[in-house]
Amino acid sequence: RSHRVAVIPGDGIGLEVIEAGKKVLEALAQKSGDFTFQFEDFDWSSQRYLEKGEYIPEGGLEKLAKFDAIYFGAVGSQDVPDHVSLWELRLAICQGFDQYANVRPARVLPGVNSRLKGAEEIDWVIVRENSEGEYSGNGGRVHQGHAEEVGTEVSVFTRKGIERIHRFAFELAQSRPCKKLTLVTKSNAQRHGMVLWDEVFFEVAKEFPDVDIDRELVDAVTTRMVLKPETMDVIVATNLHADILSDLAAALSGSLGIAPTANLNPEKTFPSMFEPIHGSAFDIAGKGIANPVGSFWTAAMLLDHLGETTASERLMAAIERLTASGLQTKDLGGSATTRDVTQAICSDIEQQ
Ligand code: NAI
Ligand code: MG
Repeated sequence: RSHRVAVIPGDGIGLEVIEAGKKVLEALAQKSGDFTFQFEDFDWSSQRYLEKGEYIPEGGLEKLAKFDAIYFGAVGSQDVPDHVSLWELRLAICQGFDQYANVRPARVLPGVNSRLKGAEEIDWVIVRENSEGEYSGNGGRVHQGHAEEVGTEVSVFTRKGIERIHRFAFELAQSRPCKKLTLVTKSNAQRHGMVLWDEVFFEVAKEFPDVDIDRELVDAVTTRMVLKPETMDVIVATNLHADILSDLAAALSGSLGIAPTANLNPEKTFPSMFEPIHGSAFDIAGKGIANPVGSFWTAAMLLDHLGETTASERLMAAIERLTASGLQTKDLGGSATTRDVTQAICSDIEQQ
């Protein structure tokens, strides 16, 4: 078997952690002997934008569409406004390929020190609606620069979009031992789209009588995540809410440098995209100290998606031995470099 993977390291530490992740994927393919990767690197980045005026060249998405998966680093530069870099690259791919299910697992890996009491109980998967809602891009500004200026940011929620993300979340919850799903909205203060979210959730719930459901308002759920982490399993929320909750989940489980994301097109009409949840981290970029564990865990999700479940499990086990060994980067309180950690996991994979 050969898997064609498009690699878009992007900006900042994206370059460092994706290079590390590719080495680990190569080591796994070599170890397994029954599959290979054909990687193709794409230089779609803020540097390219500053030089050529575009992140994605003409015909770029059509080319990308032919790959089995996309391995993405991060995008964001101090020289480009964040709303430009995000929309021109990452969201262009997510929305262009209808990657409507964003999946973010969170758990405390062995040896990782979370400052949260009871954090070892965290074992969540946050399912984020990834195609509409608050990030639809609708709205605008009138009377620009004047005292009476108004900016609107219009969330768009469609029944179709809501139904498919809920069904995805229910199926995921059903596949896990606890079979629990928590719905998160803000349907008290926001009375149209959020209320529709709730209604569709309870309609879809009828198809999944074995899944244990409950609901929270987004503000309340933050306290529950911190105070009663053991009471939650799968969480489904809108684009904005789940974006915020998943950063909180990553921090509670030790570091933003560990957490992975899959942007899935579940129907496989288009390739799915896998990325660590962190950004380009201006403060540490170029120093060789970024934690690559997020990109390794991301690689495990990518393998799983490609059907390489044995390799994916092998990688997760290697990641856990790595974090348990105490060889950790600065964000986790250690002093190891990106390269130290990458070499350690590669030789562990070779020796297993
Ligand atoms: P960030 O995730 O880049 O960094 C936040 C903090 O976490 C920084 O102190 C950073 O050093 C630390 N950190 C993040 N990843 C780490 C790792 N692997 N190892 C060690 N420490 C790590 O978020 P920030 O600073 O808000 O954004 C920086 C840029 O990245 C912005 O331009 C932003 O728009 C972009 N961004 C892009 C994302 C993406 O491409 N998916 C996601 C988040 C931010
Ligand atoms: Mg985020």
